[in-house]
Amino acid sequence: MTFARNATLEIFGQRHELPFVVGTEGETAFDITRLREQTGAITFDDGYGNTGSCSSAITYIEGEQGILRYRGYPIEQLAEHSDFVETAYLVIYGELPTAAQRANFSALLTENAAIHERMVYLFESYPRDAHPMALLGAMVNALACYYPHLATNNHNRDITNFDDAATTLISKVRTITAMAYRMSRGLPVIYPKRSLKYCENFLHMMFSEPYDLYQCSPEVARALNLILLLHADHEQNCSTATVRMVASSGANLFASAAAGVCALWGPFHGGANQAVIEMLQAIHDSGDDGTRFIAEAKDGNRRLMGFGHRIYKNYDPRAKIIGKTCESLLRTLGLNDPLLDIARNLEQAARNDAYFVERRLYPNVDFYSGIIMRAIGIPLNMFTVMFAIGRMPGWVANWREVASNPRTRIYRPRQIYIGPAQRDYIPVGQRR
Ligand code: CMC
Repeated sequence: MTFARNATLEIFGQRHELPFVVGTEGETAFDITRLREQTGAITFDDGYGNTGSCSSAITYIEGEQGILRYRGYPIEQLAEHSDFVETAYLVIYGELPTAAQRANFSALLTENAAIHERMVYLFESYPRDAHPMALLGAMVNALACYYPHLATNNHNRDITNFDDAATTLISKVRTITAMAYRMSRGLPVIYPKRSLKYCENFLHMMFSEPYDLYQCSPEVARALNLILLLHADHEQNCSTATVRMVASSGANLFASAAAGVCALWGPFHGGANQAVIEMLQAIHDSGDDGTRFIAEAKDGNRRLMGFGHRIYKNYDPRAKIIGKTCESLLRTLGLNDPLLDIARNLEQAARNDAYFVERRLYPNVDFYSGIIMRAIGIPLNMFTVMFAIGRMPGWVANWREVASNPRTRIYRPRQIYIGPAQRDYIPVGQRR
């Protein structure tokens, strides 16, 4: 971030100088760090649509044109040439790994795949039909109980053990998710296998039986790699900003990531992938081809889930890639999913409709990802968990930026109070 020059803010005839800062890709901002001190006023930005809460070197998004880059690399190139583990390394450490770095990172992931055996009993105490996101949040936070040396809440100490903590988290969320799935179905738990790669190992823990090993096709492994890779980071979205917020208090990586899981769960964020399939299924069950639904969305009675984005005012580049993969995976697996036809109809209708065009509402990452996950055999209530597994590297990288910066200040926004003015206490007998 460079300080280009000062901008002048005039408030009721009084002029104030504000540093005008410029990022690597030319985005600009007024630095208001000293605004209240200088003017007595704060900025008001409900929903943070105009607020840069930090500087970050991880991900760049240009929403008008639909550009997404991790550490400078276009998402399209990573989707074509990389896989989830390599991309995770890139997002976390800033550079594509050398062969030796990649091998070391993979070895740590393998080493950390199993969870503490006592954690397995934790699952038993939850209801069988508990939502997997509720379980994941609890289990990620519980990692701090079982691996306290990686979660001291002293950033200097936690950063010393960072490689271990990062790979523990990224590897174990996969094991936790698969175990939660198996237990919810009353199936025997399948332990991770050292010889398998990240995605193949996950599918093995999900779908193998003690007497029948799951055979993973390269197309399915590739599709899962792609889904996770495309979710790996997305700059200051609701969950990542939450992770940074929690990290800024000095909290450890597991606590910060658990908070990220909770923020991700909502239907306007990561929960949208589940909501999209529920919407498509409801449209299908009602015999609508999407036309009636589009009309209701325009009346403001419904939201077209998987459409629209705070930052993208163009096609989300991730949705483009996922949309293409969706077609080819279904073809390869010989599947015909009627929900894909409805999704295509909805997209076509929306892209030719003034309501959506004027508001610049395009498909986002969640619009087609669920159709791929259904094809792989992942149950609907686990879709947001898959988003969380994919987003871990981004949360880890953002936590690291906060924890390793000696100038980090606790995140503490202000507010404009609109409650009652001062009044006197009324004893209970006199209240009406
Ligand atoms: N369907 C119908 N109308 C919509 C939609 C939609 N999906 N999204 C926005 N609008 C309308 C909205 O009603 C408003 O219209 P008006 O100006 O007439 O009041 C206008 O478009 C602007 O919407 P907004 O709610 O002010 O936009 P936002 O930036 O606050 O919200 C959003 C962004 C993603 C929450 C929203 O577009 C939405 O709810 N989309 C559906 C849920 C979804 O797919 N979420 C996943 C986002 S991508 C994955 C992630 O990063 O989490």
